Amino acid sequence: MADTSEAGKIAAANKAVDENIKEGQVVGIGSGTTIVFAVKRIAERNKVENLNLICIPTSFQARQLINDHGLTLGSLETSPDIDVAIDGADEVDSDINLIKGGGGCLMQEKIIASCAKELFIIADTRKNSEVLGTSWKKGIPIEVLPMAYRPVQLKIAQLLGGKPLLRMASQKAGPVVTDNGNFLIDWQFEGKHDWYDVDRILHNVPGVIETGLFLNMTKTVYFGTPDGQVIIKS
Ligand code: A5P
Repeated sequence: MADTSEAGKIAAANKAVDENIKEGQVVGIGSGTTIVFAVKRIAERNKVENLNLICIPTSFQARQLINDHGLTLGSLETSPDIDVAIDGADEVDSDINLIKGGGGCLMQEKIIASCAKELFIIADTRKNSEVLGTSWKKGIPIEVLPMAYRPVQLKIAQLLGGKPLLRMASQKAGPVVTDNGNFLIDWQFEGKHDWYDVDRILHNVPGVIETGLFLNMTKTVYFGTPDGQVIIKS
């Protein structure tokens, strides 16, 4: 079945890349389906403009994208100061706080975003919400140390309520394993929350490594519409 959101993803990616990627930058490359179009655009421009970028990946997928498009692969060891990071999101609220990690790459994405002077988010308009949890119903992704997943589930249920579900690849294949060798818990919640409180509570649970709440990290969000227009939230 055709992805009806594709035109929006392409429009958002192209505009974000054209407005923010400049010659000689260190660029953080996010993960997911939307970032694919941004890397394509960067590669197109690179052929014409020889942008001389260093690209820092947020996942195995991002590293492959960088290599497959003939861009220069870097690392935080050699380039810890990132000029611009570009990434997708699962949901964006009216304060430009994000849920990320639907694809399981939240930890490296958050580290790269934290090292970047500016984080730009690209998404189709389905991701644009007033309140987190309106359009993204799968919960807040949380990366956990595998040996701690069960106590972490129990503590989250006790402290925050809701349903902390272990993300499974399948019943047969077992839990999803992140690029960092960890498990993921998707905390399904009801109602409105103070996300700063929630993030602090989650980080205080031993075994929680990182959360998919990206609070006060984003400079601008580019939302693409199905007819190729772009709405900007900043
Ligand atoms: C990866 O773990 C995620 O944080 C993605 O960035 C996010 O899920 C957006 O993905 P899409 O671009 O596929 O919607």
